[in-house]
Amino acid sequence: MTGPAPLRLGVVGAGGFATFLTGALRDLPEVTVTVVADPDTDRAARLSGILAARPVPDWRALVTADDVDVVVVATPPAGHAETTLAALRAGRHVFCEKPLAITADEAVAIRDAVAATGRVLVVDHVLRYNPVLRALARLRDRRFAVPPGSDPLLGPVRRLAFENDASDEDLGPEHWFWDERVSGGIFVEHGVHFFDAADALVGATPESVQGILGHRTGADLVDLAVATTRYPDGAVATFAHGFSHAHRCERQLMRIDFGTAEARVTGWIPVHATLDLWTDDAGAALVEHLPARAADLLAVEGHRLRDAAVTVTVHRHAGPADARERGRPRQLPHHCRITLDLGGEAAKPYVYAESVRAAMHDLVRCVRTGDRPAAGVTEGATAVTVAAAAARSAREGRTVHLGRSA
Ligand SMILES: NC(=O)c1ccc[n+]([C@@H]2O[C@H](COP(=O)([O-])OP(=O)(O)OC[C@H]3O[C@@H](n4cnc5c(N)ncnc54)[C@H](O)[C@@H]3O)[C@@H](O)[C@H]2O)c1
Repeated sequence: MTGPAPLRLGVVGAGGFATFLTGALRDLPEVTVTVVADPDTDRAARLSGILAARPVPDWRALVTADDVDVVVVATPPAGHAETTLAALRAGRHVFCEKPLAITADEAVAIRDAVAATGRVLVVDHVLRYNPVLRALARLRDRRFAVPPGSDPLLGPVRRLAFENDASDEDLGPEHWFWDERVSGGIFVEHGVHFFDAADALVGATPESVQGILGHRTGADLVDLAVATTRYPDGAVATFAHGFSHAHRCERQLMRIDFGTAEARVTGWIPVHATLDLWTDDAGAALVEHLPARAADLLAVEGHRLRDAAVTVTVHRHAGPADARERGRPRQLPHHCRITLDLGGEAAKPYVYAESVRAAMHDLVRCVRTGDRPAAGVTEGATAVTVAAAAARSAREGRTVHLGRSA
């Protein structure tokens, strides 16, 4: 018996990330690339040659082509909205590289077009498809509580801090990344990944944001962007992105305060996390069972785990049972450490590619079932709205309050 025919992809933009992305889809039999568009005809010819696809110079011909079901938008950010809107209006599904758009107005127009056309749109927010972050969200979820009905292992997020000492080694002064009119600026071009990941971990969207920017000495160039968001239940997240490091000096750390637990996640593509927590008898029993439930804990549909491991240590009666936090009495006698590992730093390219593969798998699944994707237009539009508000806050030197839909 044969399955449904693969969805046919038309890829707009044949640059660095389109090459990585299409490589990640090589053994996803649910899709096949038929057309590649890039005004740089050498690039279009090179990538279409690798993929045995048809090169075209103009994306407008691609979005209406008979052999394209899904338009993959992989151009610099300023072009995303126009291409995405044209593709939706031509009845195509869209897989859009992040950011969904560079302004909140564009993002809202895309959200309206998705609603009007009923097409599926996935934004390539790869962190939504990362097994480590998915596991942390699950541990905050009651489904992983033992016995059912008891407290989740991780309480609500109180504070999240993402420190991103990123590299500018491949970003020469002429690169479009530095031109806010093309990239949208650091908050929009890069920050959307992390605003969105924080929303997934907190389980809510921010109500306000403050931004601040740092300029490179002697140059009219912003290479440091710091933002703080506040969520309706009082949780606060801080994001710092500094594009000023050699590759070898890149460092990323996400620290999450869950009250009775602290998570430290390393890598901007997370490949490792350590959780230190204090818990009660039910929590300690749950932790002891996590290695046996590792596949469920780390599962992301379409992401094939390789060399993944969950290890735990449980130190029962490591302290007195009685404790108080926020005025609430707690029983917290046991100290536990959990590590989630996807194969260490060496696994980063694999985990990255599998996250892209899982995002595309999600699009195919939603086309076939009518479900909502994990990183759909709502998540993409919210991240752009928050990022654009952070940039406005930095410009105007004031807190920006976001509406309920942000
Ligand atoms: N999801 C991720 O983790 C991730 C990582 C890196 C980059 N990206 C995103 O991927 C996108 C592309 O980035 P990149 O690094 O590949 O850039 P790039 O500069 O390497 O490639 C962009 C390509 O788009 C082409 N292009 C420009 N305008 C076009 C148009 N109108 N029609 C067709 N082609 C056009 C250019 O000629 C170039 O070949 C950006 O939105 C970037 O933010 C996402």
